[in-house]
Amino acid sequence: MNMTQLFEKKKQGKELTQAEIKYFVEGYTTGSIPDYQASSLLMAIRLLGMTDEETFYLTKAMIESGDVIDLTSIDGFKIDKHSTGGVGDKVTLIVTPVIAALGIPVAKFSGKGLGITGGTIDKLESIRGFKTELSSQEFIDNVNKHKIAVAGQTGNLVPADKKLYALRDVTGTVDSIPLIAASIMSKKIASGADGIVLDVKCGSGAFMKTEEEAKKLADAMTAIGEKLGRKVVAHISDMDNPLGKMIGNKLEVAEAHSLLSGRMGETHEDLLEECIIISSLMYQVAAGVNEAAATAAVKRVLADGSAVAKFEEFIAAQGGDLADIVQNDTANNVAVKAATNGVVETINALLIGEASVELGAGRLTKESALDYDAGIQLVAKKGDAVKTGETIAYLYSNREINGETINKVQNAYTIA
Ligand code: URA
Repeated sequence: MNMTQLFEKKKQGKELTQAEIKYFVEGYTTGSIPDYQASSLLMAIRLLGMTDEETFYLTKAMIESGDVIDLTSIDGFKIDKHSTGGVGDKVTLIVTPVIAALGIPVAKFSGKGLGITGGTIDKLESIRGFKTELSSQEFIDNVNKHKIAVAGQTGNLVPADKKLYALRDVTGTVDSIPLIAASIMSKKIASGADGIVLDVKCGSGAFMKTEEEAKKLADAMTAIGEKLGRKVVAHISDMDNPLGKMIGNKLEVAEAHSLLSGRMGETHEDLLEECIIISSLMYQVAAGVNEAAATAAVKRVLADGSAVAKFEEFIAAQGGDLADIVQNDTANNVAVKAATNGVVETINALLIGEASVELGAGRLTKESALDYDAGIQLVAKKGDAVKTGETIAYLYSNREINGETINKVQNAYTIA
């Protein structure tokens, strides 16, 4: 077998076999297949797609490229969630303690952000002292003791994805439904949870721009999970507008803490609604209860303080100190003003995401350094009435804030 044969088959619209897909994944991971041949096949997949069978074999070969985490020493049904990535998406920080407060073990491995989409690990690392690198034993002990642990992906978990994702990032092949589905599901399956709730983002600030594409991605990921014996449900949510009021690592931790504490003035209803939907789905999958019972249980732990207590317990258990989270001491901050009178029709999530990267809250490349304090506070949200010259957003950064970034945030607002 060689890569030229695989190119020929793909060009003729023929399906690749399990053995051929495994040959490609193994060869690229171990270095016997060079970048230029892998890029060529990735571009063919990006343009021509993959059948469900091919996508399944790709996922399986990626899982088999590294370690699979064994969570069997944790009692109970282990639940995980995954978001396909958005702007201001701090849902994981909120729903994981909610579910743990309901007694369901949450064993979650998360990633760092890249581009406009933030990553849970960056947000957690913005908390002073918080440890995201846990040994397998520490991780399991924390889940058994506190019902929750969130850690960075370990060294040898799906090494094929690390190499393939880096190559896709520079060859224009990220936005492919089979490649995204295999990338996400290989990591979720290798992480060992029994059930997975997928939050598929759709809109200007997401990989999937239309509902039709988001649905295709949701169906592809659900089918893979179920074939591999996991309980999987998917929810499609709006990412035309950023979620909540804060974008940026420390700012988002503070917002998550405010929401869990019931201080709704410091956050926004859209975030609360999204968190109730996702945690209700997680509880339905894990506990086998119906939607009404799950939603009532979630609202109860939010209202009675047990979810926020669990959040604080989880942060402390991984060495974090929340004391300086509420303080926002950036060297520079700028108020962005409304250019006209009217009602905010939309806030373009893509532009807000780009501006947050320029401020230092996100990465352009894997090597970029982050400014944990940097970010954007959306004072005005969709549906709010504003007057010319009124502050609609604040920008925070320890870097110089340039005019282009200020204009970008102002232009992100459509005021009608
Ligand atoms: N997130 C991933 O983990 N992989 C992708 O391909 C896209 C988003």
